[in-house]
Amino acid sequence: MVASWPEPIVSVQTLSQAGISTVPNRYVKPVHQRPVYNSDQSGLDMEVPVLDMRDVWRKPEGLRRVRNACEEWGFFQVVNHGVDHALMESVRGAWREFFDLPVEVKRKYANSPDTYEGYGSRVGVVKDAKLDWSDYFFLNYLPSSIRNPSKWPSQPPKIRELIEEYGEEVRKLCERLVETLSESLGLEPNHLMKAFGGEDKVGANLRANFYPKCPQPHLTLGLSSHSDPGGITIVLPDEKVAGLQVRRGDCWVTVKSVPNALIVNIGDQVQILSNGIYKSVEHQVVVNSGMDRVSLALFYNPRSDIPIGPVKALLTKDRPALYKPIRFDEYRLLIRQKGPSGKNQVDSLLTST
Ligand code: OGA
Ligand code: NI
Repeated sequence: MVASWPEPIVSVQTLSQAGISTVPNRYVKPVHQRPVYNSDQSGLDMEVPVLDMRDVWRKPEGLRRVRNACEEWGFFQVVNHGVDHALMESVRGAWREFFDLPVEVKRKYANSPDTYEGYGSRVGVVKDAKLDWSDYFFLNYLPSSIRNPSKWPSQPPKIRELIEEYGEEVRKLCERLVETLSESLGLEPNHLMKAFGGEDKVGANLRANFYPKCPQPHLTLGLSSHSDPGGITIVLPDEKVAGLQVRRGDCWVTVKSVPNALIVNIGDQVQILSNGIYKSVEHQVVVNSGMDRVSLALFYNPRSDIPIGPVKALLTKDRPALYKPIRFDEYRLLIRQKGPSGKNQVDSLLTST
């Protein structure tokens, strides 16, 4: 893996704060990739399903709704998820304070493409690529052997404790969600977690996203269309500013977040493990000219050093294995080199191509 970026890194927040009135060409997307808003799509009245953890946990009727959400949308919002609401607010607030620090302070955490850990403004090392209108901080959370809080921000003062507390609560939620997904696929409750490599061996990363306000939001994207490479993702969205859009056929549906809900989405590894029954759906982030947006994505991933392929119990004569097994550490390298590119990556594992 290359150790450095192909071009000097520009923090998007710095561009935004400089008060420029046009978006530099590096961030201007080709016409077919530019944002489409709900109001431009006639008859669009669909919304990402909202599930209550109390109704779905070990309840047959609820499990059917989970299955439906994962087959149809690859996304749902979850309420009564067990993560403390005040903690959600504090950790998001702490990240906002971090991004508000002067760029010289944040630059001390500048990341490189070998591990991505730290403060960064691009994904992928393709020279002259179009860039996204966002900055981020990426850190390793699980397994705890690769957790290194000394690489995490040290300001604001409580941020490291908040990350650990929030990470712990979301980890517990992910364990319940993996069990729920397993049952909703008709498998034993612990079957999917075993296929992930066991709860003490799974991986998790946190990515704090900062989407600065943008003078020409219709020309660019905060995050280009992609599916998440890992197992499942838990997104804590901004409490005020919408921006996440989910692909639904030919439309882009903007998620209207329910207060205190978390957004759950299926990643490529669960698409592979479920042999395509569950979909890792493309999503993107649009920005706006009036407000910055902060979100936290926790990626919960299978153990990275074992082959991940379709679960045998889900294979039938009519539906044999659709994907070739691959280790997650190997899979992840592809996105780290090329950057976000829709669903090209998981499609490249199709056995029939
Ligand atoms: C991501 C992501 C969505 C958001 O980080 O992979 O899709 O709302 N984030 O920031
Ligand atoms: Ni994503």
